[in-house]
Amino acid sequence: MGMRSLFEPRAIAVIGASANPAKIGYRIVENVVRSGYRGSVFPINPKGGEILGLRTYAALSEVEEGVDVAVIAIPAGRVLDAVEACGAVGVKNLVVITSGFSEVGNLETERRIVRLAREHGMRVLGPNIFGIYSAAVSLDATFGPGGITPGPVAIITQSGALGIAMIGKTATESVGLSALVSVGNKADIDEADLLEYLASDDRTRAVLMYVEGVKNGDRLQRTLAEVTRVKPVVVIKSGRSKRGSMAAASHTGSLAGADEVFDFVMRQCGVLRAESVQEAFTWVRYLASAPLPPGEQAVIVTNGGGIGVMATDACEKHGVALYDDQAVLSEAFSGVMPDFGSSKNPVDLTGQATAEDYARSLDAVLAEDRMDAAIALYCETALFDTSQFADLLREIYARYRKRKPIVFSLFGGERIEAVICDLKGDGIPVFGDVYEAVSALGALYRERRRRLEPVEPTEAIALPLDEIRLVLDGARTDGRTFLLAPEAAQVAAHLGLEMPKSILARSLDGAVRAAGEIGYPVVMKVVSKDIVHKSDSGGVALDLESKDEVVDAYQAILRSCRVHVPGAVIDGIEVVEMVRPGVETIVGARQDPSFGPVVMFGLGGIYVEVMKDVAFRAAPVGRSTAREMIADLRSYALLLGVRGESRKDIDAIADVVVKLSHLIDRCREIADIEINPLIVYDHGQGTKAVDMRILIKQPKGVS
Ligand code: ACO
Repeated sequence: MGMRSLFEPRAIAVIGASANPAKIGYRIVENVVRSGYRGSVFPINPKGGEILGLRTYAALSEVEEGVDVAVIAIPAGRVLDAVEACGAVGVKNLVVITSGFSEVGNLETERRIVRLAREHGMRVLGPNIFGIYSAAVSLDATFGPGGITPGPVAIITQSGALGIAMIGKTATESVGLSALVSVGNKADIDEADLLEYLASDDRTRAVLMYVEGVKNGDRLQRTLAEVTRVKPVVVIKSGRSKRGSMAAASHTGSLAGADEVFDFVMRQCGVLRAESVQEAFTWVRYLASAPLPPGEQAVIVTNGGGIGVMATDACEKHGVALYDDQAVLSEAFSGVMPDFGSSKNPVDLTGQATAEDYARSLDAVLAEDRMDAAIALYCETALFDTSQFADLLREIYARYRKRKPIVFSLFGGERIEAVICDLKGDGIPVFGDVYEAVSALGALYRERRRRLEPVEPTEAIALPLDEIRLVLDGARTDGRTFLLAPEAAQVAAHLGLEMPKSILARSLDGAVRAAGEIGYPVVMKVVSKDIVHKSDSGGVALDLESKDEVVDAYQAILRSCRVHVPGAVIDGIEVVEMVRPGVETIVGARQDPSFGPVVMFGLGGIYVEVMKDVAFRAAPVGRSTAREMIADLRSYALLLGVRGESRKDIDAIADVVVKLSHLIDRCREIADIEINPLIVYDHGQGTKAVDMRILIKQPKGVS
């Protein structure tokens, strides 16, 4: 309801409306008037008078109609008073254009604006924005260049200047807009609020978001996961690099967060992440107009072998499958193909192909049920008239545009460039580059998969939170922010994770007895709250095969720890079953500053730092998402078994990931914890979790 009054206001006020064309307050009124807004417009300026033929009110209190949106374009120091005035007359939404708040460190005033707005039941867009355009009511309340063409694409942008520039880009790319919203500092309204409206807006067929930093990522992620089930969302996120994320922080006062987490979470939500503005435009333009293919078998039709090969490469890169039943292909193209052509996909009509050959070939592809999409490539030749060719493409597109996806890629000189421009203007998916054409089709294929993806049922995992809370409380009472190994093992046991057998020995005799009970070989580890880095202090001994070795190790550990950490209180020595080496993987979980609870899975062992082969997901995850995460690793083949090695127990690993993801999610109720690499071995005799480290970052409301 709230967002509807923002996108479909019946009356708007512009506070700071000015008769001076050099001012932002003038440009906004001008755009509102020129865009043909259908509601009432109330320019507000203490001087009164008229602006662009509209009566100007000296104060909002003089307006007799209810106002849904007040656009505020006055200097920062006066905004709070204006907010108060809006609240007093029951304005529903504030669009705060003004800069000079959190992006320059003035967080306090920004917070006061939001507090005050909330007290009056108002929502705030911005501050630090260029405004909002909504095709629903033909409203351009921005200070952009104007002339926005209505259409099926909605844009949400965190960068103002880029957003304004996108208005021009939409014109050159022939992309019509259903909405364009600048979110700036996102003091109140954020992408999730806007997406909820856009998901249900029939005009919007695809959404493009430019994001610098995520606030309330938890909610954004849940919203995106739902929206992408009904319409495509393409995201461009800047601040990928370290320096880039620092620049983003000073631009809109946002924390870019770890880019790799963002990337994985977007994929988890079914969002298409574009590398560049150009790619994002290519995708949304296509996604908003093309029908979802019935299947994934595409056919390339070309008059040039070279671009056919390039398109084939592009198909592999963008996950576009090529139809391969040669008997059907030969039959379909039998009447079209010259003797020296090839009906193998890519279908090569050769350089002597005529416009009619193209028409008949594309008809053959598009009328054949087993072929789901057509990629039509053309290298300029002298054999036929390009304008005739353009008409033909128009005809074919009109015939099939609602039934099957088609992309056209034309390559040549000036005349071809003119044809591309013409056809683009008519909304025909024509591209100057093969890779661009195939990448658009690839995006559509991914969109199709998303729509077909079953919704993963939420799994009820029994978590004995009270027992886990007791373990954490024990550490806190002891003044520690980390769990000792036996405590972490208790948490693991509560989760139902299988860990190596372990006994805490408090004497030499006890250690020998424990080793006998567990069975050789064993590992011994010091247990002391004063010794966090056990290996560095000589507090760990591996692979002890006999009683004598246990005796020696016991003494050596004590001696070394006393030298490294004098005065350390040693609770005892943990004697642990030695797990045979196998494929080592790691699982971790923490609260991400952007997305809240996240779980990480990766390849462990000595290469972990070098390979950085890890995958993230927002927690909690179900079993199929956990399996997807595992399959995301570049080294997944190692788990499937290479060179005759057996397949690893992927289900057991997935089980650990699922459980840890639920723990990090539910644990928020108790404390902010971080679970550092829990090492999981598949050692051929089952899967065991070893060495779980838990840090308590911040207690949450627990005494
Ligand atoms: N109510 C109504 N009108 C008022 C009030 C008030 N309380 N206070 C002042 N005004 C009038 C002024 O008298 C003036 O009208 P006038 O031209 O008739 O004298 C008008 O409102 C504007 O006020 P100015 O003091 O002239 O302010 P100015 O227009 O110079 O600047 C602005 C205001 C544009 C909001 C400025 O403070 C600002 O923040 N600029 C940056 C905006 C921006 O870049 N936003 C991010 C966009 S995204 C991007 O990066 C492109």
